[in-house]
Amino acid sequence: MAAVQEVLLAEPRGFCAGVDRAIEIVERALAKFGRPIYVRHEIVHNTHVVNDLRDRGAIFIEELDDVPAGATLVFSAHGVSLAVQREAERRGFRIFDATCPLVSKVHVEVAKLHQEGYEFIMIGHKGHPEVEGTMGQLDAGIHLVEDLADVARVQPQQTERLALVTQTTLSVDDAAEIAAAVRARFPALREPKQQDICYATQNRQDAVKLLSPLVDAVVVVGSPSSSNTNRLRELAQRLGVPAYMVEDASELRDHWFADAARVGVTAGASAPETLVQGVLQRLKALGAVSVRSLDGARETLKFPLPKGLKLD
Ligand code: F3S
Repeated sequence: MAAVQEVLLAEPRGFCAGVDRAIEIVERALAKFGRPIYVRHEIVHNTHVVNDLRDRGAIFIEELDDVPAGATLVFSAHGVSLAVQREAERRGFRIFDATCPLVSKVHVEVAKLHQEGYEFIMIGHKGHPEVEGTMGQLDAGIHLVEDLADVARVQPQQTERLALVTQTTLSVDDAAEIAAAVRARFPALREPKQQDICYATQNRQDAVKLLSPLVDAVVVVGSPSSSNTNRLRELAQRLGVPAYMVEDASELRDHWFADAARVGVTAGASAPETLVQGVLQRLKALGAVSVRSLDGARETLKFPLPKGLKLD
């Protein structure tokens, strides 16, 4: 069995600005108001992040009924529907909104165009909390399409004022194909000036496109619930490289690397770098003598925190 010799690291990988901000909001709320802090849904889709915050006093809930009166509540990075937002306000919780500003931007666009009489086609994954939050910005008038078959079937009320929105963490290539089909069916379609798929999703997929042809196997660090992480694994696989998604180093299996002299490593936008370092240690134990980072987009974006979380 040939040993692993070299590891190539995708750049960029791991935390995006929206995840950084969301975690910091929970940490600051804990520091400022004490435990417990209630968080609606997993703050970001990563098991380690959620377990760590749970140990420090966060309580993750899905239903507002599970939040006691007077509690502090954080909305997750994926965003919430207007109904959830209004109900939380009505119940008088102290609310901090950790919705990624790039998801909020989509919400604002939906509200604005709705005022102008638009209906929407949304490309996204049914049941994902971001999709529920975005579709829940309106009572009706957003039609979800997941694939080309859905595009052929969808029936808006009218076609003159129809706008496209997408989930922020889709496969860039799949979304482009589905958007082209929507455009072909509805030529008057209005599209966002800048795509809704976020910079972090785009950059991490670009990095995997660069990485995959150079390696014999790809390890993607992240949780199965994370949309952008799944897309990274799929992408490497589509490019012809065996690709494995792991929560952490403990899930690596030696036989994956039996014929892999070069292994590529990346991480989804919600996966902490410490987990990547754990994977590197394991690959070094399997024989890797060199670890090299590839060149990629430099990310400097940082989002401001909501008001009321300044620490003394
Ligand atoms: Fe926001 Fe994109 Fe990260 S939508 S939370 S910057 S993956």
